Amino acid sequence: MFLTWQCFTGTANALSLSNEIRTIPLNDLGEEITVSNQEAQLGSKLFVASCTQCHIQGKTKTNPDVGLSREALANAIPQRDNVLALVDYMKYPTSYDGEDDLSLLHMNTDRPDIWSEMRNYTDDDLKAIASYILIQTNADPKWGKRTLIEP
Ligand code: HEC
Repeated sequence: MFLTWQCFTGTANALSLSNEIRTIPLNDLGEEITVSNQEAQLGSKLFVASCTQCHIQGKTKTNPDVGLSREALANAIPQRDNVLALVDYMKYPTSYDGEDDLSLLHMNTDRPDIWSEMRNYTDDDLKAIASYILIQTNADPKWGKRTLIEP
């Protein structure tokens, strides 16, 4: 647990990540963007504040089959391995097969009456969180992957 945490915060707090690591898919058309270091830092801060409790190192505590690895995101319907799709998930979360509305089960900005913790999140904040997740899939080979040492 301690080692995992160190590794996670080590990557998250890195002062400067290479351009290559900060270059991530924007949409499902294959377009990419290079996120600034500042945006990556903001995403890291917000992810730790709101998401890490369930998604430590990109895993999903209560549903390990639906983690935040690039592969898991790519295989969701519709695919979630890009910034815009992740922003959409944070507004309108759906089940992995896209069939069910999860807005009562997963935190999101569309239902601030239920999920007050996300009430003040702007579109830029959501984009920063989405970017952070995708940067982590570039930066950390263990991000979202099952490992022998489960947290
Ligand atoms: C209280 C626990 C909890 C918190 C907090 C939480 N999540 Fe989740 N998240 C889950 C669970 C459980 C699932 C699996 C849902 C399912 O069954 O499809 C999930 C699924 C996801 C998925 C879909 C992954 C995939 O492979 O398709 C994304 C994206 C996601 N969460 C992002 C976030 C972000 C971003 C935050 C913070 C803003 C967050 N989650 C906060 C529990 C949580």
